[in-house]
Amino acid sequence: MNADELREMYLAFFADKGHKIISGSSLIPENDPTVLFTTAGMHPLAPYLLGEPHPAGKRLCNCQKCIRTGDIESVGDASHLTFFEMLGNWSLGDYFKQEAIEWSYEFLTSSQWLGLDPAALSVSVFEGNETAPRDEESIQAWLKLGIPKERIFALPETDNWWGLPGESGPCGPDTEMFIDTGRPACGAGCRPGCSCGKFFEVWNDVFMQYEKMPGGAVRPLKQHNVDTGMGVERTVAMLQGKASVFDTEVFHPLIGALEEAASRRMSESDDIAKAFRVICDHLRSAVFILGDDRGVLPGNLGQGYVLRRLIRRAVRYAKKIGLAVGFTRVISEAVVGGYSGFYPELGRSRDRIVGELVGEEERFEGTLEKGLVELNRLLGRMREHGEKTVSGRMAFKLYDTYGFPVEFTEEICAEDGMTVDHEGYEKAFEGHKALSKKGAGKAFKGGLADRSDATVALHTATHLLHRSLQIVLGEHVQQKGSNITPERLRFDFLHPSKLTDTEKTEVERLVNDAIQRDLPIQREAMTLEEARKRGATALFEGKYGEEVSVYSVGDFSKEACGGPHVERTGLLGTFRITKETASSAGVRRIKAVLE
Ligand code: ALA
Repeated sequence: MNADELREMYLAFFADKGHKIISGSSLIPENDPTVLFTTAGMHPLAPYLLGEPHPAGKRLCNCQKCIRTGDIESVGDASHLTFFEMLGNWSLGDYFKQEAIEWSYEFLTSSQWLGLDPAALSVSVFEGNETAPRDEESIQAWLKLGIPKERIFALPETDNWWGLPGESGPCGPDTEMFIDTGRPACGAGCRPGCSCGKFFEVWNDVFMQYEKMPGGAVRPLKQHNVDTGMGVERTVAMLQGKASVFDTEVFHPLIGALEEAASRRMSESDDIAKAFRVICDHLRSAVFILGDDRGVLPGNLGQGYVLRRLIRRAVRYAKKIGLAVGFTRVISEAVVGGYSGFYPELGRSRDRIVGELVGEEERFEGTLEKGLVELNRLLGRMREHGEKTVSGRMAFKLYDTYGFPVEFTEEICAEDGMTVDHEGYEKAFEGHKALSKKGAGKAFKGGLADRSDATVALHTATHLLHRSLQIVLGEHVQQKGSNITPERLRFDFLHPSKLTDTEKTEVERLVNDAIQRDLPIQREAMTLEEARKRGATALFEGKYGEEVSVYSVGDFSKEACGGPHVERTGLLGTFRITKETASSAGVRRIKAVLE
């Protein structure tokens, strides 16, 4: 079975069980400063898991593109990927453990579906702690399906509890399903969850019945939800009996294109195989990031920095296998060609994606060699003097002059048993602190799962701001991005020039006027087409006929969005614009607060 067939089969199975197939979301989370990329299918659904009504109902399923770069240094082995597709099904306060587990079992083992041998299936469940009890309900559900107790493993929070990495949000115990690949065990303690490759984790059913509050306290949710995740690439590898995701048809066209461009075989040696894997993985991620509807360009901050790091890391590995400048064109075309059926946004932006990728490759090529010479000379000198730590100043110079992301320098140093004085680097970096913070993936407060009064109020204020900008500047004003923390809102929009003081004052006046009128906020569900017909601002791409929530603020604004919002504008306080700057060409950025 290939990836296309698996996607189709999974979605058909859950549609048959009463689930609406919804579109996947952008890779760049809208209005969520806690993480840089969408990391799981549930991520865009966090507000609904916390109780907001979803316009498509209580049973949903989809295939979501995800990026996780926490393990970027491990890419190159058999299974790590920075981009992957996740299949998921959700119950928003509808069915719970019994049905979720029965359906997972049916999909995995029924001959009508994946047809895996039930004797090869083992599962893990949550063993319990002071927050939540041992998950007896899941144990009973598995026993009832015939999984013997020797193949049900009760494991601690580190294995069987799931929530988004941010500060707060929905979470709960999970049950994970493993297929015994038949490979030998690595030792007596080898069990599901062991990373040796014997037990393949195929699916995770999370029972989101708790909410982590800012500060860390966990409290029960009124709504009992199910959130599941199955990785497409890894499952395809397992179904095809392959030990590595890179041995499946998902990567064949990319590897084929690379072998031809480099005139060598991936199987020549372990080092060569690693380089092939890194290049294929990183450029696949880069194409999806560049081709996203909320596309990002390589840069020095946030998502742009991650994108730059992926491309530059691929370029470094390309050198190892002797690829000529311009190799990114061949690979990006192969990625776009292979995926634009399911992800039409890639086909639409083909030329831009390839152009940006080749541009970034060329920008880096010029300095890479010189930077490597300088770094190798330095490492040689350090070896002579028995030194082990590259100074922060030097790491910064490599970044500033040769475009080496610091993690990149650290990785090259590690190959030589050396380290980088990271603190010294950050000091040298002064003024760009946001980069190091975000690059390290540290979480900020706020985000999709944040329902604090301050965040919700700023969300409603964003709608008022959007409409006021359209009234003052013109209907061409269109949202390009939004990011809310409990302290402030940030809003990017299309407009060609800097706002005058009069324009800013007028926008503030309109927003504050709407606040003083104490307008009610109402939600209605309708199709995207209907929403547009009724004059709602509806920005996101969606499938034809897809249901969306439309929030109206009195007669002032009407906008499709996920919520949540306050009930009346009178709760907002006074709105003030604190900053108005350029965000990128033709896009302005406003920061504002409620006081
Ligand atoms: N959200 C769960 C995961 O990512 C299903 O594993």
